Amino acid sequence: MNSTAIPVVTIDGPAGSGKGTIARQVAEILGYHYLDSGSLYRILALSSQQQQVENDDLEALVELCQTMLISFEVSSVDENVRVFLSNQDVSGQLRTEECAARASQLAAHPQLRSALLERQHAFRVLPGLVAEGRDMGTVVFPDSNTKIFLTASVHERATRRQKQLKKQGIGASLDHLLKEIEARDSRDENRAISPLRPAKDAVLVDSTDLSIDQVVQRIVEIVRR
Ligand code: C5P
Repeated sequence: MNSTAIPVVTIDGPAGSGKGTIARQVAEILGYHYLDSGSLYRILALSSQQQQVENDDLEALVELCQTMLISFEVSSVDENVRVFLSNQDVSGQLRTEECAARASQLAAHPQLRSALLERQHAFRVLPGLVAEGRDMGTVVFPDSNTKIFLTASVHERATRRQKQLKKQGIGASLDHLLKEIEARDSRDENRAISPLRPAKDAVLVDSTDLSIDQVVQRIVEIVRR
């Protein structure tokens, strides 16, 4: 079967817009597979750091993109997706803001983006895929049938991040989180390659004043329309 006949729902948006939680729930309702493309950039950041590969050693980084041994598993304890690098659970290490910042620096290199493209396409299998990230609808799956661009105010996104960290027992000031999110938004929106922006045919959903359930419901309605 031609892979372009396999349905894909793309959900793009900035850091902290709730894409992860929402995309996972939409995938579950539709019975589709799920791709968290950001985790691939985060794994690259972590793996290169572990192997002491410099941020500008593109040859070594491209090789890592091609050879990193990655797997995903849904935890039976909390139903969260656990990420494994070379069979080691690295989920906690991937969630740090330090890892995200390094990921966003690496993500600005065209060679690394194209090296990760094939790995992302491999997730497109029946019965369908929900893919979330920054360029799912614009670059990775431009032929997707349903494209969502999820936003929320930067203040709301920083507040959500603060709550999430608090749950993990980590304290962080709102001011500091606002600055980190703004810096990452700006890098993601202004890079020359695959910048964060809605596809022309994307439906914009603003989650600032909506609950997770409301956003999930709205997206499922759009998919089924
Ligand atoms: O989505 P998440 O916050 O995990 O992504 C981490 C970083 O990876 C983003 O800030 C962005 O720079 C990069 N990324 C990307 N394209 C994607 C997904 C993530 O450039 N499709």
